[in-house]
Amino acid sequence: MKIGVLCSGGDAPGMNPCLRAIVRAARSYGHDVVGIKHGYQGLFDGPEQGFWEKGRVLDARDVSGLSAKGGAFLNSSRCDRMREPGGVDEIVQALDDFGFGALVCLGGNGTLSGALEISEKWGGQVIGVPCTIDNDLLETDYTIGFSTAVDTAVDAIDKLRDTAGSHDMMFVVEVMGRHCGDLAVYTAIAGGCEVVAVPEKPTDFAAIVQRLNKFRKLGKRSIIMVVAEGDDSLVCEEAKELGVNYLISRLRKEGCPYDMRSVVLGHIQRGGSPVHADRILATELGAEAVKAIVDGDSGKMVGLVSHKVQRANLADAVRERGNTNKDDAVHELLKLLDRMSI
Ligand code: F6P
Repeated sequence: MKIGVLCSGGDAPGMNPCLRAIVRAARSYGHDVVGIKHGYQGLFDGPEQGFWEKGRVLDARDVSGLSAKGGAFLNSSRCDRMREPGGVDEIVQALDDFGFGALVCLGGNGTLSGALEISEKWGGQVIGVPCTIDNDLLETDYTIGFSTAVDTAVDAIDKLRDTAGSHDMMFVVEVMGRHCGDLAVYTAIAGGCEVVAVPEKPTDFAAIVQRLNKFRKLGKRSIIMVVAEGDDSLVCEEAKELGVNYLISRLRKEGCPYDMRSVVLGHIQRGGSPVHADRILATELGAEAVKAIVDGDSGKMVGLVSHKVQRANLADAVRERGNTNKDDAVHELLKLLDRMSI
């Protein structure tokens, strides 16, 4: 069978070891893997422009060395055409025209929502693999790329702590994560940070400043606050102000006792060689995606829950996270952070 593989949406460290695992697992079952470049866009572009080496089947040597490589060997993109009316129908037609029997989609919530739509319309098999630094998918404890992104953010925070300590300062550090606070709260706990603001909990500026005043009295000379990019504290509709500087101005108005500076970590969080946890997860889930195809499955996302590889319906994986055990876990971690900053 000809299996197409694509990486879509924001790249995630671990997409490459996952591709390596898919190619090698498929070879072991006698199936061929063709790389589709720039995500779903590659299917619109066709073999000449849109397929890796014009559609040459990837062999084991083509993916050598990918365990350690960040980025996306097949390139990634956010494909607007896919979301236009008739976009998914065109994709389905292309998959048939180019002789694919199965499609493996590596990406986050948007990518796997697209995969779900394709699986509902196409006769071939569609399997999703959770690859995003946001960790915003259900039906897997972790997404591929999340652990590396946390380590990258923690490394930055360790460095900021040095300079914050030298100058008796406070840093407000914005991390990515879209509408999900996992990246922020994991980073904050691992980095020994004093305050964190996440979309899962409304931000109370006065309460934060009250805590900061307490820290000052306790003799804390440096403070690191982590804020998730999706947090409400970064948006002020009336003033049309946005971002971490707005948050800082609000804290200042409330009487923040520290000299504050802002840092936006941005896309640095998506790069770098994947850490071992992402390499292993990528290898397990890549191999399981192929196994799912061999078993005749479709419309599924492979994931790791309580150390066990599993398959779940794509529709369940892309659900809103509110009122789920993953949401509860964020609230527990917020309490833990509060207990640690004394
Ligand atoms: O989904 C991964 C992610 O890095 C999010 O954390 C962030 O909101 C978004 O992608 C940024 O996307 P772009 O690179 O398209 O600006």
